[in-house]
Amino acid sequence: DWTPDSFVEETVDKLKAQIGNDKVVLGLSGGVDSSVAAMLLHKAIGENLYCIFVNNGLLRKNEFTDVLEQYKGMGLNVKGVDASARFLDALAGLSDPELKRKAIGRVFIEVFDDEAHQIQDVKWLAQGTIYPDVIESVSATGGPSATIKSHHNVGGLPDFMKLKIVEPLKALFKDEVRRVGASMGMDKALLGRHPFPGPGLAIRILGDITPEKVRILQEVDAVFINGLKKAGLYDKVWQAGAILLPVNSVGVMGDERTYEKCVALRAVESTDGMTADWVNLPYEFLQKTSNDIINKVKGVNRVVYDISSKPPATIEWE
Ligand code: XMP
Repeated sequence: DWTPDSFVEETVDKLKAQIGNDKVVLGLSGGVDSSVAAMLLHKAIGENLYCIFVNNGLLRKNEFTDVLEQYKGMGLNVKGVDASARFLDALAGLSDPELKRKAIGRVFIEVFDDEAHQIQDVKWLAQGTIYPDVIESVSATGGPSATIKSHHNVGGLPDFMKLKIVEPLKALFKDEVRRVGASMGMDKALLGRHPFPGPGLAIRILGDITPEKVRILQEVDAVFINGLKKAGLYDKVWQAGAILLPVNSVGVMGDERTYEKCVALRAVESTDGMTADWVNLPYEFLQKTSNDIINKVKGVNRVVYDISSKPPATIEWE
């Protein structure tokens, strides 16, 4: 019978036998899959696992520093690489969603390849691929592995992609991954995190991306997500986030007329991201969240709630 405990025990034994004294590199995303994969490998090979966590400048507010600290607290050998400027440079002037994704995928590969080259004699690339990733061409899990798979370099494979691949979660579904993580004593909050797309806030800022727009959306998103947590709603929702619309609308503040940004909030129920229903969040919660956003986030004067289900509306707007 499959149990998380026996899975951990067997997988750690298998990884030890398979990898021996070789070095392994793994890209951490802050998400559930890459984190659980890292913990399994850490149990098996300890310091020979080299984790890389890239800040693409499009993560949630404070995510990079908070999650990096958490990884270190778990005993992982992790290097945080802040490549925000490189990503934002590559994105400057791009509005088309697919061009934005391609630019992010390309820079991610460059940054990851640079870092992997700094590890002497690395033999393996570990990925947090789970079973649904194997059957779907586009990952719904949002990890760096998804970015790697969907954006191959035109000029041949970067060196790290020539490494031998190890994917300890390849046969598991998301809920099993969470149970495996729990059986290794991993933090509940980390295991319960909502999926987040690899291109991050870049595909939630409709149109072109500027540092100011990233700042605004990070603030709005933080108010929304922290509000969901405080209201006990976070765990009832499969995925939630905010979208910065390329629309200004008129408002009034005192005697002044304003002409500022509009944001959309989205919260969905789903099991795999393939279909999704918008969540009937309580009006009182929406009311408070809207007030908080408009009061706290400079540059925003209007909040709307997305009441579209998938299909036909996708979870992300881009
Ligand atoms: P859609 O918008 O297609 O999203 O309904 C389904 C799930 O996939 C995530 N998503 C992505 N994840 N790279 C990723 O790693 C992407 O380019 C990407 N686009 C969408 C989305 O957040 C949702 O969980």
